[in-house]
Formats: sequence, C-alpha cells, structure tokens
Amino acid sequence: MVVKYWARVEKFQASKEDLLIATYPKAGSVQKTEHITMKTTQCSLNNEIILYVKGTTWTQEVVDSILNEGDVEKCKRAPTQVRMPFLEMTSKDGLTSGITRLEVMDPPRVIKTHLPIQLVPRSFWDAGCKAIYMARNPKDTVVSYYHFDRMHLHQPEPGPWPHYLEKFMTGQLGWGSWYDHVKGYWKERHNKKILYIFYEDMQEDPVCEVTRIAEFLGRQLSKSTIENIVQMTTFSAMRENPMANYSSIPDSVFDRTVSDFMRKGQVGDWKNQFSAEEDAAFDEHYCKMMADCPIPIRFTI
Ligand code: A3P
Repeated sequence: MVVKYWARVEKFQASKEDLLIATYPKAGSVQKTEHITMKTTQCSLNNEIILYVKGTTWTQEVVDSILNEGDVEKCKRAPTQVRMPFLEMTSKDGLTSGITRLEVMDPPRVIKTHLPIQLVPRSFWDAGCKAIYMARNPKDTVVSYYHFDRMHLHQPEPGPWPHYLEKFMTGQLGWGSWYDHVKGYWKERHNKKILYIFYEDMQEDPVCEVTRIAEFLGRQLSKSTIENIVQMTTFSAMRENPMANYSSIPDSVFDRTVSDFMRKGQVGDWKNQFSAEEDAAFDEHYCKMMADCPIPIRFTI
C-alpha cells in the first residue's frame, strides 16, 4: 500500500455515524529516499512515500461481527480492507485507496487508521464520531512488527533484531513513537468519544470486552450472540477465515514461508525474542517514558 496525497487524508470528511478504529501500526516503513516525519504536531508525507502497515484485524473483525449481530455470512462479504477501509492508504498509482473506497460507501462506515491522534482528520472530532483504540504491550508489539517486516517482501529488510528494537524504542519506525501514540489517545479518551481497550484484556476475557464494545456501539446483543462473536473472532477462527486473514494479499507481497500474517496471537511471546539484557534495558526505558502517563498495560496475563 502507498501513502500519497496527504491532503486528501487531511481533508477527509467524516460523518457522525462513522466509527474510527485506531491502533499503533505493527509495521510501517518507507521505501525510496523520502522520509516520514511524525512528531507530536506535524506529519510530512512526501509524494511517493510507500508505507506498509498491518491492520488491527482483530478489533475490526469484532466490530464488524457486532454490527452484523454475529451473522457469519455477512461478515464474510468481503476482505477486511474492503469492509473497513484503511484511511491513509493509497496504492502507488493512486487508483486504490482507503479514501477512494470510503467515498463510495454510505455512512455509517467503519474506518481503520494508524494515525496518531493529533493527525486524525479534524472532521472525525468535529462530527463527534466514536473511536475505538486498541493498545497492546510494546514488547509483543515490536516482536509482531519485526516478524511482519521479515515476511513483507515490499518492506525494507528489518535488519538485525537488536537494531530493530532500538529503532522501536527511539520512535524511528514508521508512524513514530509507540509511546506518543498510546499516550495521545489515552489522554483524550474522556474528551472525545474514545473507547480505549487492551489486547491483553481481549485475550483474558473476550466476553467482557466484546460486551463493552457492543455497549459502546449502542448494540444490545444477547449472551448467545456475544458468545458466538467471541467464537467467530478467536485467533484460530480468523486464521482460517480468508476474509479476515489477509490471504488475499499475494505471495509476491507476503512471504508466508517466513512468517504468517496471523502469526501466534499470544500475550508474552516477547519472552522468546528478548534477551535478558534487552528486557532489562527495555523496562528501564519504559518506566521513564511512561512516568508521565501511567497506562495499565500488561506484559503478561
Ligand atoms: P502476532 O504477530 O504476535 O501473532 P494487527 O491485526 O493489529 O496488525 O496485529 C497483528 C497481531 O494481532 C498478530 O500478532 C496477530 O496474530 C494478532 N491477532 C490477529 N487476530 C487475532 C485474534 N483473533 N486473536 C489474537 N490475536 C490476533
């Protein structure tokens, strides 16, 4: 996917019925010599920048299942990226883009973004849209990110793991700092209609979290429908679902012999990647970075 024409994103007109699903990207990078600058107040997206980012497919699938009251067939009507377009993505030729898809969809639309909160088009907040933000602990995030970069053939090589981890910690990967991202939405959650959820909570008690999301969306669902949605959106169910597992992405883009898109789906897999030294250094850095904004993020469940 290609990000071009930042002005189109910035000027996007949301309707008040639209729902935004926001996450920090698991992978994002730049080809060619152009660069992306993402600071707290600005973003420079040069023409021809190419970004590749994974989707927050789990939350998307849960939301779509809730909106369709657990109807499996309706949820299989199209691949994730068609059902819930990715706001800031465009193809290199500009013919396929999240915005192009959104322009031919009637609200209410479910829209995915990886933009940090200060870059979300104003119209979302002016219209009073609801947003769901999912945070995942940074250790599992960076591991997931790393393996995605390894399997994505249009991504620059992630390079050695220690260097990659360093880039994550210093906010040098695409879409900037994980710390700024999670803190930005957290601080605004009571000022805007933001439901802030955690990957680890979804793993631990999916019935509770799916119920919270349904209530946030104003949907009264029966206990059996909630349980059905939980079953439809398990890691194994989604991995087998071609409309939810990105199997539509060709092998020329995803080298599935290196890693699956639906890789492990676990909390605590970082323990298989981090050395003891890396873990200690990360913890120290994390404490400093989060001191001003203690978000209850869990690294294990
Ligand atoms: P891993 O690489 O750790 O396996 P996103 O969808 O936001 O890009 O995030 C991708 C990560 O979410 C991957 O993590 C993927 O396996 C995991 N994931 C996707 N669907 C999931 C589900 N239903 N349950 C648990 N984890 C899921």
